[in-house]
Amino acid sequence: MIDTDPGIDDAMAIFLALRSPELELIGLTTIFGNVHTALSTTNALRLLEIAGRTDISVAHGADQPLERAYAGPVPFIHGSDGQGNAHLPAPSTKPLEISAAEFIVQQIMDAPGQVTLVPIGPLTNIALALQLEPRIAQNVREVVLMGGNAFCAGNATPASEANIHNDPEAADLVFGADWRITMVGLDVTHNVIMTPAQMNLLETARNPLAQHLAKINPLYLEFVATSAEIDGNYIHDPSAVVYLTHPHAFTTAQHPVRVETLGISAGKTWANTFPKRIHPDWAGRPAVNICVDVDSRMVLNVILERLGDQVP
Ligand code: RIB
Ligand code: CA
Repeated sequence: MIDTDPGIDDAMAIFLALRSPELELIGLTTIFGNVHTALSTTNALRLLEIAGRTDISVAHGADQPLERAYAGPVPFIHGSDGQGNAHLPAPSTKPLEISAAEFIVQQIMDAPGQVTLVPIGPLTNIALALQLEPRIAQNVREVVLMGGNAFCAGNATPASEANIHNDPEAADLVFGADWRITMVGLDVTHNVIMTPAQMNLLETARNPLAQHLAKINPLYLEFVATSAEIDGNYIHDPSAVVYLTHPHAFTTAQHPVRVETLGISAGKTWANTFPKRIHPDWAGRPAVNICVDVDSRMVLNVILERLGDQVP
């Protein structure tokens, strides 16, 4: 299950999951972040329609963070429509009646040990699902999330990464639950950069997913080129999907994580790296499997092979 705020890189992540034979995408849940939750839901439905997978359910998520106000959409990165200003037609399908949190709980508890939760937006729905049914922590197979910055600067602020910054309180609950959790954060995704030439390969692919990505990527490319002064796109969300299918492409370290919730550093993920002791404020929390390095060439090859595939 992917919890998402589509979002241009979210679209690539969802399409990559659909074209990964190792994975079965059983549902999408939506959250605010790149856009308001209502538009996340519309875009999730649109993306599944483009992929010919309207059999996959979408559940609408929280419209606000747990405690603070939503910081607002980022049209200058993902477009006013969240899809690179491609302004797609309205979807022909509707979301489920139940909420994202209820859908997450239902899917995990109906298949103990089999469902992997892949949050690639703010963690509000995941925290709400934990509050609704704490036993999901023991029944989920694993949580693999895109978010956080353990040993590097942020991107939403100098201190924090966008997904965590959007709901620090939810993130602190999620990192503190007793479940298997892997953090695919900026520590690695800032090293996974797809060049314009690699992006253009997608344009030559005849499948509808790659064609959509070729339409929406230019806006994201433009933003990253001007803001980060690099010639390419940071591949954030798809990296979390590649972790699922190619974990050996990543180097990890295990530390308990707390999330700053106060002041200008709100959203910063702090790992307890003391070698032989746990600081009291990190006590009682599980070790988070933190991605600290990545074979970015392998990650990009997997994405381009699977999305650039000539098979329609
Ligand atoms: O920091 C990158 C994350 O924030 C990605 O999930 C991107 O889609 C935005 O949500
Ligand atoms: Ca996202």
